[in-house]
Amino acid sequence: MKLFAFSLIALTAVMSALAVEGSKPAYEPDEFFRTQILPILQTRCYECHSREHEVEGELFLDSKLGWETGGENGPAVKPGDLKNSPLIQAIRHLDSDSAMPPKKKLPPIEIALLETWVLLGAPDPRTLPTKQ
Ligand code: HEC
Repeated sequence: MKLFAFSLIALTAVMSALAVEGSKPAYEPDEFFRTQILPILQTRCYECHSREHEVEGELFLDSKLGWETGGENGPAVKPGDLKNSPLIQAIRHLDSDSAMPPKKKLPPIEIALLETWVLLGAPDPRTLPTKQ
């Protein structure tokens, strides 16, 4: 319960940091993705969900098409909808079967950032990585 409260506080902090100032958004969606979200995916998820490493659960998280297509359970993210985004349910570690990353839960701030990203409509400027 304590952790959940902290996560909510972190989420509120992130949301207010992104608050709209006048008519001009105080953040740029692609920039938000690149600076806040991409590093989390790269360090926490790519080792099992990217072309460069391995692919588990048929889910690619190294492109927008990857999470749009999703894995066995369909799209991993439903933009704007936390409840129906398997990725969000997984990082909340609600049950041990679907908990992601499998071993260690992400720090609350990273969960809050990913939740914020989904609530913002999941902006993701990445195209499919080209093969080297
Ligand atoms: C150590 C490897 C590993 C890491 C790291 C990892 N995953 Fe997974 N992931 C798996 C495996 C294995 C599955 C498929 C089996 C399962 O559901 O447990 C899976 C499945 C999933 C699924 C369900 C896909 C579907 O449709 O069935 C989601 C969503 C997911 N992972 C998200 C993430 C996210 C987000 C991260 C990073 C925060 C992450 N995973 C990190 C191994 C990993």
